Amino acid sequence: MLGGRLPPRRWSNTRTSTDLQSLDTAVSHEGLGQLIADNRECLLGKFLGDSNLSEEKILDSLLATAKAQVSQGKGVVEFLEDDSAGKTVGIAVGEPAVWDSEHFRRRLGKVTLVAFDRIVGTGHRATVLHKLLTRLNVEMLFARVNMNDLLTIQALERDGAILTDVLVTFRYETSGRLPPSNSPGIHVGPSEPNENEELTRLASRIFTVDRFHGDPLLPKSKSDELYSKWVSNSLAGFADIVLVARQAGRVAGFITCKVDGSTPGGEHGIIDLVGVSPDFAGNGVGYELVRSALEWFEPKVRSVYVGTQAANNRATRLYTKSRFLPVCSEATLHLWSLGS
Ligand SMILES: CC(C)(COP(=O)(O)OP(=O)(O)OC[C@H]1O[C@@H](n2cnc3c(N)ncnc32)[C@H](O)[C@@H]1OP(=O)(O)O)[C@@H](O)C(=O)NCCC(=O)NCCS
Repeated sequence: MLGGRLPPRRWSNTRTSTDLQSLDTAVSHEGLGQLIADNRECLLGKFLGDSNLSEEKILDSLLATAKAQVSQGKGVVEFLEDDSAGKTVGIAVGEPAVWDSEHFRRRLGKVTLVAFDRIVGTGHRATVLHKLLTRLNVEMLFARVNMNDLLTIQALERDGAILTDVLVTFRYETSGRLPPSNSPGIHVGPSEPNENEELTRLASRIFTVDRFHGDPLLPKSKSDELYSKWVSNSLAGFADIVLVARQAGRVAGFITCKVDGSTPGGEHGIIDLVGVSPDFAGNGVGYELVRSALEWFEPKVRSVYVGTQAANNRATRLYTKSRFLPVCSEATLHLWSLGS
């Protein structure tokens, strides 16, 4: 029907559920299975096309996590039903963002799963997501949406959400052939306890382009402080290792690495944070840090992931130079409730 319109549909009000039973029923529902299959590429996100991982197991674990969140009372789920077709055409799952809420002393939440049938327009998508915000009883709902799912991004914007960053994720596949070391004067090794204070101080001043700093409703000082806490937690065990670059006896930068084994069939490496002191920037310190991290990951995992903002050209060039390839782009949106 070239240039034609889809026939008008009758939509039911969104059906809401917080109990495992009804999510289970819906998950076994043919419509929801189809919905997940139709949104496969967006839901797999950065994992799409990673031959070292099992895409089926990753999708299964996405749904299992959503069910666990809801059954344990940690999260809520919203469905959109098409009564005339008798099928589920939308699902959104969310939960409180505990760490962020404690840090900013505000009630913040996050979307952990969102998928719609492609025929669902922005109005109904916005209704579902807004209901999630209301039912979670949070002041702001954070959503990271695949850039291939433009309708959901437009729905959030239609409801007043603000774009706070665009995240590009890169993948490196280990091959036994590491990028070469270029700078003999830069020495990289595990962090020493006496460096903790310097590292957390450095973190509070160098991370300025991200979803926290990109939101005018979050105070800059608290966004700066978030990165010192992040590095401090990484040093205390949140990361498996924090590597530090030293040049002429001074701390020049750091990188945090961890192995994520939480997804069955999807064990992979993650570089969370890379930071170089402005005094040493542009001299190859970032490159030596990434190279050393890859050396640490080499015997442990087959794939390593790192993300950065689309606007961060320095980081993008650093990762591509270190043989990472871009694999996924996501828009980050913050939907604030009226009156926040
Ligand atoms: C991104 C960052 C880690 C790069 O560290 P760095 O030590 O300056 O990077 P390197 O000197 O190793 O350079 C690696 C590549 O990055 C690029 N790069 C470095 N400095 C650059 C600059 N001033 N402008 C543009 N590109 C630059 C170059 O392509 C370089 O490759 P080249 O040697 O072929 O020119 C550093 O700028 C930083 O800490 N930024 C703030 C924190 C951050 O954004 N972290 C990344 C996201 S978590």
